[in-house]
Amino acid sequence: MSTTQTMTPSSDALGTSAAQARSAVLEELILKDPGRFRILTGDRPTGRLHLGHYFGTLHNRVRLQNLGVELFVIIPDYQVLTDRDVADNLTEHVEELVLDYLAIGIDPARSTIFTHSAVPALNQLMLPFLSLVSVSELNRNPTVKDEIAHSRQSSVNGLMFTYPVHQAADILSCKANLVPVGQDQLPHLELTRTVARRFNDRYGNGTTVFPQPEALLSKAPLLLGTDGTKMSKSRGNAIALAADADETARLIRGAKTDAERHITYDPATRPEVSSLVLLAALCQNRPPQEVAEEIGPAGAAALKRTVTEAVNEYLAPIRARRAEYAQDRAHLRQTLREGNERTRAVADATLAEVRTAMNSHY
Ligand code: TRP
Repeated sequence: MSTTQTMTPSSDALGTSAAQARSAVLEELILKDPGRFRILTGDRPTGRLHLGHYFGTLHNRVRLQNLGVELFVIIPDYQVLTDRDVADNLTEHVEELVLDYLAIGIDPARSTIFTHSAVPALNQLMLPFLSLVSVSELNRNPTVKDEIAHSRQSSVNGLMFTYPVHQAADILSCKANLVPVGQDQLPHLELTRTVARRFNDRYGNGTTVFPQPEALLSKAPLLLGTDGTKMSKSRGNAIALAADADETARLIRGAKTDAERHITYDPATRPEVSSLVLLAALCQNRPPQEVAEEIGPAGAAALKRTVTEAVNEYLAPIRARRAEYAQDRAHLRQTLREGNERTRAVADATLAEVRTAMNSHY
């Protein structure tokens, strides 16, 4: 994995440096005793996963699973409704995500893939949790503010405003104690910790009903999309894991570069070229400087050829596995059904404890 990292100057306002220091300690604890950690993480079902997701979080998830950490992967289907009226093509998007997960090596024998809407006890936790946070706390969440600013809807719906509490229910219903996150998710995790703490204080009667989950901040490299802005499903500038070799070549051929012929790795002054160099470097597991030096005077066309080859070679086994899984829809659905069942059992047990603590076990 590359050590390249991009942080905005304001990131410390979100406690990023503290989270980074703690994450280094957590990494050591994971190596020593992976069995004491349960992870919950997930991706909204709004489209196919892409290389930005892969090198940002997915790769890390599989690494943690393979180290022996217990992994729950949520497909938060209700969260899709925060910035749109109807979650279009939901079944298709959910199944595409499951395919992506299986293809990259999430192993349903060890890990659990599930959807929000299939776990009633999870959703029920939303109600007591909402009573534990104030409206002004919800109002202050910088990630939600940002999403509202970028939403194309004319008004903000209640789910947008409260989804971080829903996310707390995702995490706490499974009693996960570790959440691998990018910086934008830190406010949500902080809120989850607040909810856990307040629930324990108010209802725990001296016991700890909920753990306070910790953020595991990953060293996510910043990959730009083919237009030079952040790689994102909604911007149409992403290379999907499921894209075929020709589509990948076409997308990379059309990627934005700059007027300077000599290829260098300099993310600050040459973001587009450097992101392409970085992508090849990540796929080839070597330093980006080395990739840039090798190409040097050969220019952007040679760079794009290198990137295309590197990406296609790296993704070939993932794509082959994905195609195989895609042939067997019954197995796909069975994987999800089993994950949902497993999660329901865990969340039901948590809700039973909550009812007892809240004196509402009738
Ligand atoms: N909000 C996350 C996102 O938009 C997705 C998500 C939902 C999630 N529930 C979660 C992530 C629980 C981690 C843990 O990417």
